[in-house]
Amino acid sequence: MDLVVVSNRVARAKPNEPMTGGLAAALLPVVEKSGTIWVGSSGRVRDGAFKDSFAEIQSLGTGALAMLDLPAAHYGGYYEGFANSALWPALHSRTDLIRATQDDYESYREVNAFMARALMRFRKPTTAFWVQDYHFLALGAEMRELGVTNPLGFFLHTPWPSRNVISGVPHHRELIEAMLAYNLIGFQTDEDCEHFSDYLRSDLGLHVENGLVTSRYGMSRLAAFPIGIDVDGFVAHAVRAAAHPDVSRLRKSLHGERLAIGVDRVDYSKGLVNRIRAFDRLFEMRPSLKRSVSLLQIATPSRENIEAYGNLQDDLSRLVTEVNGRHGEVDWTPIRYLSKGFSQTVLAGFYRSAQVGVVTPLHDGMNLVAKEYVAAQNPIDPGVLVLSKFAGAAKELDTALQVNPHDIDGMARTLATALAMPAPERRMRWEAMMEKLRAGNIQHWFASFVEELEKAHGASEKPPSRFGWTSISGRKPSEMIFRQLRAATSSLH
Ligand code: G6P
Repeated sequence: MDLVVVSNRVARAKPNEPMTGGLAAALLPVVEKSGTIWVGSSGRVRDGAFKDSFAEIQSLGTGALAMLDLPAAHYGGYYEGFANSALWPALHSRTDLIRATQDDYESYREVNAFMARALMRFRKPTTAFWVQDYHFLALGAEMRELGVTNPLGFFLHTPWPSRNVISGVPHHRELIEAMLAYNLIGFQTDEDCEHFSDYLRSDLGLHVENGLVTSRYGMSRLAAFPIGIDVDGFVAHAVRAAAHPDVSRLRKSLHGERLAIGVDRVDYSKGLVNRIRAFDRLFEMRPSLKRSVSLLQIATPSRENIEAYGNLQDDLSRLVTEVNGRHGEVDWTPIRYLSKGFSQTVLAGFYRSAQVGVVTPLHDGMNLVAKEYVAAQNPIDPGVLVLSKFAGAAKELDTALQVNPHDIDGMARTLATALAMPAPERRMRWEAMMEKLRAGNIQHWFASFVEELEKAHGASEKPPSRFGWTSISGRKPSEMIFRQLRAATSSLH
């Protein structure tokens, strides 16, 4: 069996480098242990004079990583344009930030078509393709155009908004029709899946029942697959990280002061401005907390060529300076604001050093920082997670302290509650969250999607698929993936 996973961003195979965004970090531990080929953008571009797509191929665990140079003429319109200035804002219910031209849309479609052609070299009769995220909504349809009949799955890492919000995207109808070329379309939450089904019913006039919809491509299945993390791997990182020099420097610098931590890309969906305001309010409401708690905010610069992101960086720098100026002392800084990324190991050590994890997005597909913060805690003395009710993770992590990120005073009060919470209550809440994390870890997510993809493809093909799941070893791919992942995780204990 062969599985090819496709995403715009891939994790480079260097273990101690910072990774941008939840998607690449989440996929790495499963992709490298499941013998999968992971195809994505190299981040470099190449002009159209070269007819064939260029791929740099590296080995990645038991599989491989293939990084493609994308066409120079279309990269900007695809990445900064349609994907991140039309789709991303709409998916996060910020239609006011949609900026996209017809050229951007055409570039987006060109890059999807380019990727479809490039994927042909990885296709065997036994290959299943699993496409990730909003960069490639139309990739499945482009592959079908090329005659591909293999199983095609798609998973959206962001939220899917209500129908009137998604209708703010130019060409929404064409794109969503194209998505139905996938046999299986996965979402983070049931709510996202329902929003998508509503759109299919009301705007495309399709009949959706029990998560099944029939279009000109055949039958597609729609379902929620909440993404998890590599719990055991992250626990191991957190224990190991105690010895890391960055982590011991952080601990030494605290002089007994307590720490709250936030780790985010600088993105308007993450609610960073409201979070800093909530800390401002906390110090106003409870002056006794000054010098006894500070916020470490790691704010990794992101998509800096897009105006909305540049403006946000400026706003945040101004706000942090203002709040530190108002409450700080010669020997105490309320908000430590760092504009850089850290490796997973160092982050795990930072999370374990913090008594409060602050994850307060305005909208977020899942938010894996919330899950990583929980996994990194010391079981005897765990910290408290303060979590936005608008993060997908809030559906599972219901013993976190949940907040409305638009209510600054409410967030300040909840932060004070978190800081005062006695150890038995912290342990009780933490244990309940760990149970959920273990039940829905990344290995489970990966294997169950592949299993459903196999079923969805089988059900959509009549007569039964030419796709030979049993042709190599007599075992179905999902069984093999389960076995490989199980073997890989048990070696982590
Ligand atoms: C989110 C998206 C990912 C993306 C990541 C980082 O997690 O869902 O698809 O890779 O942000 O964004 P970037 O634009 O830097 O890849």
